[in-house]
Amino acid sequence: MVKVAVLGAAGGIGQPLSLLVKLNPIVDELALFDVVNVPGVGADLGHINSNSTTESFLPESKEDKTALANALKGSDIVIIPAGVPRKPGMTRDDLFNINASICQGLAEVIAKNSPKAFVLVISNPVNSTVPIFAETFKKAGTFDPKRLFGVTTLDIVRANTFISQLFPKETKPGDFNVNVVGGHSGETIVPLYSIGRTKKYYDELNEEQKKALIHRVQFGGDEVVQAKNGAGSATLSMAYAGYKLAESILKAVNGESNIVECTFLNLDSSIKGASEAKKLVNNSEFFSLPVLLGKNGIEEVKYEILNEVNSDEKKLLEVAIDQLSKNIEKGVAFATK
Ligand code: 2OP
Repeated sequence: MVKVAVLGAAGGIGQPLSLLVKLNPIVDELALFDVVNVPGVGADLGHINSNSTTESFLPESKEDKTALANALKGSDIVIIPAGVPRKPGMTRDDLFNINASICQGLAEVIAKNSPKAFVLVISNPVNSTVPIFAETFKKAGTFDPKRLFGVTTLDIVRANTFISQLFPKETKPGDFNVNVVGGHSGETIVPLYSIGRTKKYYDELNEEQKKALIHRVQFGGDEVVQAKNGAGSATLSMAYAGYKLAESILKAVNGESNIVECTFLNLDSSIKGASEAKKLVNNSEFFSLPVLLGKNGIEEVKYEILNEVNSDEKKLLEVAIDQLSKNIEKGVAFATK
């Protein structure tokens, strides 16, 4: 039995994300939680004749925790797009005040009702909300760093698409799987184009084109925020990205080998390769890196990639690490206060 819970299922990301989960034949139960509109989303998705059952959970009041608890009970994967999105001119950090409390509240109920679930955090600012989840789980005594994932997959998706758009005759976006490391916000996002399949194409670009490409990946979210003109941030591409990570975890849990995804994780020494990674990123507690997935979640951090970066990427990493440390501290301070 595989149960997936989506928290924030009636929102802009939650709805298309829930649709994608609903279509996955391995999923048996889909639990949809939100504080508004979720019965309608559940009724709608429930008509789809895929393998899973669909149930919606709407709290009766602000104090009611039962609906959330029931949505979470027995969940193997919990995907969290809950919270408010950006408006033009806002950074992800501007969302902190609202989304931090939402995330802390959800984490407390997850710790009680599905402490062994894989938890995928989409709610922004990911660089701070993932530490909030980690600290809240620690307080509850349920923290397993192998099971907590900050979703940075959209940065990889964008990095793949944007380089391919520069070489439309020779490439397709699906040809690539760029390693994007660091965090999920502006300059904390570091695409490593000089490594792997993209190297050949990246080397053909001049300095200005390289800078523009990296900037586009780092600030790709802003393109969508501006184009939506007040109606929110990326929802469809983010739903795809969040689903892609969830799908990879499901495959790994089902025994498929060699599944590697980038994710923003806690570099806890219990994870193979995490201590080595930590040394290379100025002791950052959290960082997005490629990880090998297995039955228990994150099996190994593929830190070696950090030894292959070129001098420009090294500089980008320094900026990312510095900014990231402030974002992480902010999340930890909030959760431990
Ligand atoms: C983005 O990167 C919403 O954080 C999301 O567009």
